[in-house]
Amino acid sequence: PRSGWAIAADVVVVGSGVAGLTAALRCAASGRKTVIVTKARLDAGSTRWAQGGIAAALGEGDTPGQHLDDTLVAGAGLCDEEAVRTLVTEGPDAVRRLIAAGARFDTSAETGRIALTREGGHHRRRIAHAGGDATGAEISRALVAAVRDAGIETVENALVLDLLKDAGGHAAGVSLHVMGEGRHDGVGAVHAPAVVLATGGMGQVFSATTNPSVSTGDGVALALRAGAEVSDLEFVQFHPTVLYLGPGSEGQQPLVSEAVRGEGAHLVDADGERFMVGQHELAELAPRDIVAKGIMRRMRERGADCMYLDARHFGARMWQERFPTILAACRAHGIDPVTEPVPVAPAAHYASGGVRTDLAGRTTVPGLYACGEVACTGVHGANRLASNSLLEGLVFAERIAADIARTPVRTPAPADPGDLAGTRTVPLPPAEARYAIQRTMTAGAGVLRSAESLARAVEELAALAPDETGKPAEPGVETWEAANLHLVAGVLVAAALRRTETRGCHWREDHPERDDDSWRRHLVVALRPTAG
Ligand code: SIN
Repeated sequence: PRSGWAIAADVVVVGSGVAGLTAALRCAASGRKTVIVTKARLDAGSTRWAQGGIAAALGEGDTPGQHLDDTLVAGAGLCDEEAVRTLVTEGPDAVRRLIAAGARFDTSAETGRIALTREGGHHRRRIAHAGGDATGAEISRALVAAVRDAGIETVENALVLDLLKDAGGHAAGVSLHVMGEGRHDGVGAVHAPAVVLATGGMGQVFSATTNPSVSTGDGVALALRAGAEVSDLEFVQFHPTVLYLGPGSEGQQPLVSEAVRGEGAHLVDADGERFMVGQHELAELAPRDIVAKGIMRRMRERGADCMYLDARHFGARMWQERFPTILAACRAHGIDPVTEPVPVAPAAHYASGGVRTDLAGRTTVPGLYACGEVACTGVHGANRLASNSLLEGLVFAERIAADIARTPVRTPAPADPGDLAGTRTVPLPPAEARYAIQRTMTAGAGVLRSAESLARAVEELAALAPDETGKPAEPGVETWEAANLHLVAGVLVAAALRRTETRGCHWREDHPERDDDSWRRHLVVALRPTAG
């Protein structure tokens, strides 16, 4: 790529969801020159789509210890207990700070205190929400406003390419491909000795997902190319209740929050039978992997493409006040939840794994941090507990900023526009490869997996590998996204093939049992660095 512009900073934050914006605000508040770079607009990532809410022990009688217990159970033996303890202990104050920063949560009309709902796997009402079911949108609004008020420099439409490193292998910034941002157009760099990856998830690896189109695993791909350790990629969480729009529906699908079940909706089959009752003590509010499996099993037994969420008993007023976003999405697709059950099926939702970090958000590459969905801090284990993700983004972003504030300021690298040593030309697949990757992954590495389906996916991905000898695809957002999807899909499938057991959200038809003797461990991958 041709060299272009360059900016020098103390910290570059890549991504602008709850994790990235929180990290940037804290770093700037501690006096570090901070630049945010983000692939689309500041508010375009997954955070603004979050519905149910943010989990924290804020309710009367609740304690971090109970939140810890529920998180560990959902994580199916693979959570890092210290990481979870950190999350649940620091969580309540982190939410209070978010409120102080301007986020407005729903309150109870009777008590005036924050209203709390339930979701799968939680034994208590513990989920704070905003705008009924528009929690992420409110958090995003408040944090974007705070970033603008703080005057933090941002570069939008900036696709991150690679990590830059100094001669000692320490992070030195990122290279970027920017479109349509005037003075920062083309390939350029932000030079900074601290790089915070907060690029979100990789749901677009699959055909049907709740994630927006920008969730293409860019941060995990960057980290892999930089030689950082990545862990637990096989644990992709499929949300049980995604609005079913018909066979072959592709791309971002409307979520029907677990909070709908938390407020009393029932999961039923086409005959109206509640099939989760008797399968788990929490029935429809069992942890997410158990509900997704329950739905898939019943779909198979009945030869059906979907199941139904019945909440007609809420009535028009409750639907309108408590779940306005979901009501509007259903009605936009010709379904009226006030008068009919809502068709639902599982779809890819959340990457429980990601770039491996310690409790200060440090990856295995010095100076490179990761937080939010891109990270694997150890709090989710094999299956994330509902509404722990916004909380994780908040808590670990704050910890990263604290770590950066403690670290002596390194002289920022000179902002020499010609100095893009880490930006090499990698072979890029054509943009259309994205759809072939998605179909391969959905067929071979979706909710249900087997050695056979995964081996087929490995073969198909190999056939989609960009040809180093052929004509290279034009560098651009779509081709880089396809390259990133291809890279993370390959690592995900390899891990899913190796893990010959069923645990959390990893469901192997050919190995249906959990195998604690062999598999109470993580699959950690690091590639030979090709960047920096
Ligand atoms: C939901 O509202 O069901 C999503 C909550 C989550 O993914 O944590």
